[in-house]
Amino acid sequence: MIKIIQGDITTLAVDAIVNAANQVMLGGGGVDGAIHRAAGHELYEACLKVPEVRPGVRCPTGEARITPGFKLPAKFVIHTVGPVYSGGQHGEAEKLAACYRNSLALAAENDCTSIAFPCISTGIYGYPKEAAAQIAVREVKAFLAAKNAETAKGEDVPQNGRARPPSAPLQNGRAVAPRPPEMEVIFCCFSERDANVYRSLIA
Ligand code: APR
Repeated sequence: MIKIIQGDITTLAVDAIVNAANQVMLGGGGVDGAIHRAAGHELYEACLKVPEVRPGVRCPTGEARITPGFKLPAKFVIHTVGPVYSGGQHGEAEKLAACYRNSLALAAENDCTSIAFPCISTGIYGYPKEAAAQIAVREVKAFLAAKNAETAKGEDVPQNGRARPPSAPLQNGRAVAPRPPEMEVIFCCFSERDANVYRSLIA
């Protein structure tokens, strides 16, 4: 399920909020600064422990890393690094798409059922808001569609001769695994203008 809200992502009591970080992953301005301020110093300490993949780079552009949320109402922070927009001819669209895909995958791996995204790369990194929102919505819809298809297949409760567990629901007379809750994805826009851009895409 997709929701669009206007507000401050640091206030959301969801399983994971996504941080628009930089590759060093030790805080910054914008939403990165707000998240670190709200989470407290333990977040900085946790980021410091994330191994560098090369000098000065803990999270390469397009990838994602997860830490606890500490003083935030969110359980986790998923740090992702968007591309710096430089005209659109340097793979920026694919890198931004990868931010959403990798953040969603990491959330699913950590059994998150709710995740909130800021408008990655559209502040200091200068990505045009409308183009960025189109990429974000496309990637989130694709992820949720794939997850739903996977769940809809259902895992038949192994018919190993044992009686069907009383809790396992029946479908066409066969026991199927209970459906896990669908992930709720929230686009948390800091401004009403940004929220309207998303609303125009998810009519
Ligand atoms: N809640 C939700 N969204 C927010 C908040 C907040 N508290 N604060 C800012 N934003 C929004 C901005 O309005 C923008 O739409 O987050 C979006 C992303 O903007 P930036 O935070 O500037 O992130 P980005 O453009 O990806 O640039 C990342 O900025 O802060 C540094 O360390 C960060 O170097 C990195 C760069």
